[in-house]
Amino acid sequence: MSEFTSSAVSLPLAQVETPLLAVALAQGGAVPASLAELDRAAGGVVTRAITSGDFKGKRDETALLYPTAPAGPNGAKPQRLLLVGLGKPADVSRTAIRRGAAVAAKRARALGAKQFAFAVATEARNNVTARDLGQVVVEGAAQGAWAFTELKAAPEEVKPDVEAVVIVCDAKEAKDVADGRRVGDAIAAGHRLARYLQMQPGNVCTPSYLADRAKQLADRYGFTLTVLDRAKMAQEGMGALLAVAQGTAQEPRFIVLEYRGAGAAPPVAIVGKGVTFDSGGISIKPAQNMEDMKFDMSGAAAVLGTFEMLGRLTPKLNVVGIVPSTENLPSGTAVKPGDVVKSHLGKTIEIINTDAEGRLILCDALSYVRRFKPAAVIDIATLTGAVVVALGQHAIGAMGTDEALIAEIRDAGERAGERCWPLPLWDEYRDMLKSEIADVKNSGGRGAGSITGGWFLREFVEGYPWVHLDIAGTAYTDGEGPHQTKGPTAVGVRLFTEFALKRAGA
Ligand code: BES
Ligand code: MN
Ligand code: ZN
Repeated sequence: MSEFTSSAVSLPLAQVETPLLAVALAQGGAVPASLAELDRAAGGVVTRAITSGDFKGKRDETALLYPTAPAGPNGAKPQRLLLVGLGKPADVSRTAIRRGAAVAAKRARALGAKQFAFAVATEARNNVTARDLGQVVVEGAAQGAWAFTELKAAPEEVKPDVEAVVIVCDAKEAKDVADGRRVGDAIAAGHRLARYLQMQPGNVCTPSYLADRAKQLADRYGFTLTVLDRAKMAQEGMGALLAVAQGTAQEPRFIVLEYRGAGAAPPVAIVGKGVTFDSGGISIKPAQNMEDMKFDMSGAAAVLGTFEMLGRLTPKLNVVGIVPSTENLPSGTAVKPGDVVKSHLGKTIEIINTDAEGRLILCDALSYVRRFKPAAVIDIATLTGAVVVALGQHAIGAMGTDEALIAEIRDAGERAGERCWPLPLWDEYRDMLKSEIADVKNSGGRGAGSITGGWFLREFVEGYPWVHLDIAGTAYTDGEGPHQTKGPTAVGVRLFTEFALKRAGA
């Protein structure tokens, strides 16, 4: 799969040679003055689309137009025009422009265009800076262009990959757009890696496969890598992670990546759930949609994708990435409901439900991470079906011990277009995890499932500010959208990038 690249040109729109020129504009009435020259060169097709009322500029709306004037000195160079709606003028933001670029890229793919050009009508820009525009157009374009065809021996209808976006901008903004593109390119690469890993089926993407991919990142970018196998985990006393791993023949891995961009400063740690397939174990899941549980390593994918970004952008910050990884399968050796295991921290856990395995592997990571004396720890996990019930596909559930860190994460999520919504970890909810036999049980029953999941993790958080991100609703989509194909979303990569760059003062 080829890499996605971006570039920029400063030319009148009508002069851009491209199979597809996408122009984003806001909702409302007349042809923007900034498009007049293009419209004239294209034989008035833009005016006709807008004044007929066929194209209104609503969010996700598109109109594909073909210039009618002959190409030539006075005709339009783009072979096709795509008007892309951004919604109401006041709503135009980084998020709206990112989405517009994604919609355009998805159309480019359907049209078989290997590259496309993208411009935002000046009138529609609102307050989005040139730097932000450069960044979000690349992010969106890479997102919308993505497709996974690798495992088809004979793809019925092979469309070439959309390989590049060309941003059309004013010459005086070129420098800022280029700065933004640099960030966008790195995010696109991280995004691509994360989605690729997510998409791999469980028989390919095993814990040792994830460790191999971490090794590739470490080799390419010079990160420090530590990988623990089953024996090392036993030495460490990771009884909770090992309890999940005891039901599968696949070797578990505990993966630690360290990026150093700020000398001896305390690092930020990101911990990603890496369950490469979650059958539920002895508390087995229903067969319906169980195949989606290959996505249960989406937190791990977000962490590895973030390291791809870090390797490219090298911000002034230290980051530790931890991926506890195993399968969750039923077998004669599998952990059973009622079993009691001892965690890395020393607390004992009564396993009520073997399908609440994510918290078991994460709790040992949250305890292990103390040795780095982290300034902040954020875990990211497809932890509970309950978060899908609470927030659907449009928000990450966020919980934590530190209001300032929660606010910082929510802020980063807002900039990234990966919104986080807080859920309360009030003391009353802790009672739901009381065990008769052990320090804590791993399931609190039906009510407040995401919160009790968060509370369980909190039991293992000591000595650092912490936020838990439940991405079960946002890690993948089960339907096609105008801006992305069905499947993995790489959620978390953009959020962590915004978070890291802000912390690094970049
Ligand atoms: N991986 C699942 C959560 C999940 C559900 C992710 C749907 C994506 C879509 C997790 O391991 C799980 O099974 N959680 C249980 C917890 C319960 C047994 C306390 C759940 O949500 O039902
Ligand atoms: Mn589960
Ligand atoms: Zn799971």
